[in-house]
Amino acid sequence: MDQQTAEQKKVIFSGIQPSGMLTIGNYLGSLKNWGRLQQDYDCLYCVVDLHAITVRQDPATLRKRTYETLALYMACGLDPEKNTLFVQSHVPAHAELAWVLNCFTMFGELSRMTQFKDKSKKYSSNVNAGLFTYPVLMAADILLYQADVVPVGMDQMQHIEITRDIAGRFNQVYGETFRIPEGVLPKAGAKVMSLAEPEKKMSKSDSNGNASVYILDDRDTVIRKFRRAVTDSGSEVRRAEGKDGINNLMTIYAAFTGKTDAEIEAEFAGRGYGDFKSAVGETVADALSPVRERFGQLTADKAYLESVMKDGASRASYLARKTLTKVYRKVGFTQPK
Ligand code: TRP
Repeated sequence: MDQQTAEQKKVIFSGIQPSGMLTIGNYLGSLKNWGRLQQDYDCLYCVVDLHAITVRQDPATLRKRTYETLALYMACGLDPEKNTLFVQSHVPAHAELAWVLNCFTMFGELSRMTQFKDKSKKYSSNVNAGLFTYPVLMAADILLYQADVVPVGMDQMQHIEITRDIAGRFNQVYGETFRIPEGVLPKAGAKVMSLAEPEKKMSKSDSNGNASVYILDDRDTVIRKFRRAVTDSGSEVRRAEGKDGINNLMTIYAAFTGKTDAEIEAEFAGRGYGDFKSAVGETVADALSPVRERFGQLTADKAYLESVMKDGASRASYLARKTLTKVYRKVGFTQPK
């Protein structure tokens, strides 16, 4: 039965911070796949600017990156007609629900969050309360839309767990209010490692400029970074224990071409690492070039981006209000007509 009504479709929610450019790891792990979900699910993708200010942001840069992140969603294939694309601060219900949920979240459980511990070390001069309650805002994001599925990276799984705990606790006290969401990790094969230190995950914010390939890197930059990718001293293109560099390049090549390891090994038999690195670089550059082109067109049309933002915010607000009104009623807030 493909005549599903909107109510019957499962809801997917995810968010990306507008705090830096995204890598091919983000592309393969999330953005590229999200486009395929738009037929079968009700998808909401949020640019989480409220989360971004838990660390200091330059206002002009934050504003610019908010537009860019929205444009990137679209450039990677998310159709704003079929998905709800919006900016978190445009929907006040996120901050409003976060306050209520703060009162159902324990100091102790927030203290155990790995990301909080890491970030308070990294930003030790600014360990603000927002950094501490970050997961509660994230819970509000998800629970407002009664999301069934939340695609996230491994580093966010703990935040999904706390979201489930908070939702369950609220439901226990007030009766069924929130749907309990499921966190879903990207497919195992798509884990992309740093090109400079292939035993580490590729990161948005690596200080080594050659470690990460960004979705918006130009062709020459992509090819150059792959040529410089760190590999071992061997020469045979073959997946093997301990050959992190080659394994990573094979993973990337496989993800962009759909080829199996055996096919890749056959293709590069007797050709050495140099040839392989060039081929991976060119393949990735070719795949990203339409994304970059589309991104350029979108960011040049601010009026259009703003119309997408407004439309997304109004659709999201409608859904979010329904949940928030229910929550306000359950906790005992007055609601004069
Ligand atoms: N914390 C997430 C990250 O840094 C971003 C995020 C915010 C998010 N709210 C969300 C992801 C809700 C999924 C669902 O990656």
